[in-house]
Amino acid sequence: MLCARLHLVFVSCIVLIGCKKPADSEPSVVWNVPETPQHFGAQFIPNDNPLSALKWELGRQLFFDPQLSSDGSTSCSSCHLPSHAFGGSSPTAPGVGGALGTRNVPVLSNIGWHPYFTREGGVPTLEMQVLVPIQETNELNHNIVLIAEQLNSDSLYIKMTQDAFGVDPSPYTITRALSAFERTLISGTSAYDRWLEGDASALSQAALRGQDVFESIGCGQCHSGPQFSDFELRNNGLFVVYPDSGLYRLTLNPDDIGKFKTASLRNLSYSAPYMFDGSVATLDDVINQYAQGGSNHFNQAAAIQPFEITAAERMDLKAFLGALDDPQFVAWGETLAP
Ligand code: HEC
Ligand code: HEC
Repeated sequence: MLCARLHLVFVSCIVLIGCKKPADSEPSVVWNVPETPQHFGAQFIPNDNPLSALKWELGRQLFFDPQLSSDGSTSCSSCHLPSHAFGGSSPTAPGVGGALGTRNVPVLSNIGWHPYFTREGGVPTLEMQVLVPIQETNELNHNIVLIAEQLNSDSLYIKMTQDAFGVDPSPYTITRALSAFERTLISGTSAYDRWLEGDASALSQAALRGQDVFESIGCGQCHSGPQFSDFELRNNGLFVVYPDSGLYRLTLNPDDIGKFKTASLRNLSYSAPYMFDGSVATLDDVINQYAQGGSNHFNQAAAIQPFEITAAERMDLKAFLGALDDPQFVAWGETLAP
């Protein structure tokens, strides 16, 4: 990963040099992209990458295309499964040649609201994040310059890229199209969202009680705001000894061992198993882990404290977390494969 990061700096020079301005005659909103609920606030969208219908089509095509991997076997969607809110279904997912990484595949629902990317937050934009899986040997194991060459021998990609950007395929167009597509993975039609928008019947009595449990046992101290994350990097007490040191990999500061980006709690029913390594199988296991007050790692956040929870409160808490699932979003995602 560190090696990949150095390489990233090098390749990003190629990407950032860019080419021409994006075509400005396209509509700014695509017909079948989910709407942003008002309570989400605005996404950060870089000035050089506004959404257009044609760019979105190109990004969608690329996201599902195994040509992005060195042996033609794996696409972004092989790991970020639409049926799992664009996350994984097992602790880790195989890349090229069946190579397994060590991290759980995160969901991409509402990824456009994250302030930084990967589990230790080391990548500042979605545009740059595209380079990480492309270069990672246990993911796509490829090179964006070679991918651009390949796409330049494919008449469909030449046409789609010309239509969207007015230029031929390049690292610039690949990173812009994929990230524009990712920003439309908007999950804002859960029961909880409908309840916030004024539909009082959208949350069951159990879910409403569960919301109180969620706050009273302290979950909301970190899992706050419309995405149920403040995105701070923290050690949530998963291990006494961390097999993956998290933020420490970037800073080499021992105070950062075991710190990971606070996860969103949306779409949990689709995204088991949990945590950075997928080591926690079920929501009951998650609750048990927190209830015991974590593992007492020396960096463990002070907000992780032991608590008692009755069987009825546990049911209510799970009903509340279930109200953050968005089946409508998942059903839409499943229609996207070209
Ligand atoms: C082999 C499986 C695999 C493939 C293929 C893959 N990813 Fe990922 N993706 C992961 C894993 C694992 C992580 C977590 C990595 C980390 O934290 O270091 C991740 C992280 C991400 C993130 C950051 C999420 C966050 O919460 O910060 C984004 C965005 C993303 N991938 C997009 C893509 C795109 C776009 C592609 C295709 C170009 C792709 N991924 C291909 C497994 C994969
Ligand atoms: C001190 C801050 C903090 C508190 C309090 C906290 N969490 Fe977390 N939570 C985190 C962090 C950080 C992560 C990411 C850990 C990782 O990637 O391994 C996380 C991850 C999770 C995940 C995994 C999500 C996924 O997609 O893998 C779940 C579920 C979760 N928390 C639920 C809860 C519940 C329920 C509570 C209340 C009992 C709670 N959390 C309290 C910080 C906190």
